[in-house]
Amino acid sequence: MTRHTIGLLLGTEEDWPTAFEEIMRRLGPVEGPDGGSHAFDVERITIEPFSLRDRPRYELVIDRLAYWYYVPREWLKKVAMMDDVYLLNSPFTFQSMEKHAAYCAMLRLGLKVPETVLVPYKNPVDNARYAYTAARYNQPFDLDAIAERIGYPLFMKPYDGGAWRGVSRINGPAELHAAYDASGEMLMHLQKAVDYDVFARSLSIGAETMVMKFQPDQPMHLRYAVDHNFLSPEGGEEVVTIGRLVNAFFKWEFNSCETLVKGGEVYPIDYANACPDVALTSLHYYFPWAMKALVRWCVFALVTGRRANIDMETDRYFAIAAETGMSYAEKLAAYRALADAYFETERYHDFCATRLPRLDQIVLDWVTGPDFDQLLVRTVQSVYPAHEHDKFIAHLRGLLHLWVRDESARLAVA
Ligand SMILES: Nc1ncnc2c1ncn2[C@@H]1O[C@H](COP(=O)(O)OP(=O)(O)O)[C@@H](O)[C@H]1O
Ligand SMILES: [Mg+2]
Repeated sequence: MTRHTIGLLLGTEEDWPTAFEEIMRRLGPVEGPDGGSHAFDVERITIEPFSLRDRPRYELVIDRLAYWYYVPREWLKKVAMMDDVYLLNSPFTFQSMEKHAAYCAMLRLGLKVPETVLVPYKNPVDNARYAYTAARYNQPFDLDAIAERIGYPLFMKPYDGGAWRGVSRINGPAELHAAYDASGEMLMHLQKAVDYDVFARSLSIGAETMVMKFQPDQPMHLRYAVDHNFLSPEGGEEVVTIGRLVNAFFKWEFNSCETLVKGGEVYPIDYANACPDVALTSLHYYFPWAMKALVRWCVFALVTGRRANIDMETDRYFAIAAETGMSYAEKLAAYRALADAYFETERYHDFCATRLPRLDQIVLDWVTGPDFDQLLVRTVQSVYPAHEHDKFIAHLRGLLHLWVRDESARLAVA
């Protein structure tokens, strides 16, 4: 029996870690391709001083904390660099590659990133050398002319954005100047607005991608709509490919990707959301899928001895981008092949079918039973004020009931 310890690096969340721990417990040991048995312990990682020579207890870590808390971030770098711990996600690409870097990479690969311009800081940078340097080297620029060239409406948003911080939609010069004045010490992009038909947000966990219809104007609990046919089959494939490409390129294994779809064209706008929100209250219907995918991917990585790798190897993608004889669709197919090779997609699906055949039923039984309902109730109680508890409990129960119905039908056919 081989034992594997999975570490969870957590902030305030209680819902998905509880779900993950419970599904792993119900799953029990898994037989590997070599016939050996593999058992899994899941532990929540605590923050404490560490010697750079310490050996970590964890073989794999899922991180939802290091994006704002730097002690665990530096610990993640240490265990990635020194101990080959398998990370969802590696700080070497997650913390060093923000939205701006991701735009640049995807532009080079020929993706339809809307016209985007980086403008210098509105306020002086807090550094004694700034005044002299700016006076000597900063070129004056005409913000209105840049905006005119891009065309209104446009978006102003931080180069390293997340969670809508500092994002504004701009319809004309007055709003442009107001938003730029307000940007202060933030470094901003101006980006052409896409007047989209539908917003597709994909969540990827390892080799799996779920494409969901996203409604950014709705409150959190209504942003993901349950709709299985909102894209054409080709459009859906393209969104999956873009998500998987971004993730393979940056070696992000747990990330969400936002694309705007307009008349058959897919425009990616935000895809540096590594370690994304997977709360029960926002994912609702899709929550069981996300938990299963997380369990499957961790088990697959551990049992097959998948190695973490912090080399970027970007040249392989850029070589395809530089091919003059290839169409956009051909390039996407070639990128997809590289991405699927990175995620070992075929081997992964075969592993799930042969090594984890019971998982679907285990999760269905759990979601149908009282333990899950308790988790749902406790989660609502911790997220919403008392007078909204009944409403949100009913809302989530309804959506999960719908999932149970669909999943039961799916398993009955399978
Ligand atoms: N180019 C664009 N065209 C249309 N809508 C956009 C564009 N850029 C951003 N938005 C809107 O603003 C929201 C936040 O922008 P986004 O780039 O996703 O920033 P964040 O990283 O903060 O989520 C998006 O979800 C979308 O609704
Ligand atoms: Mg976004």
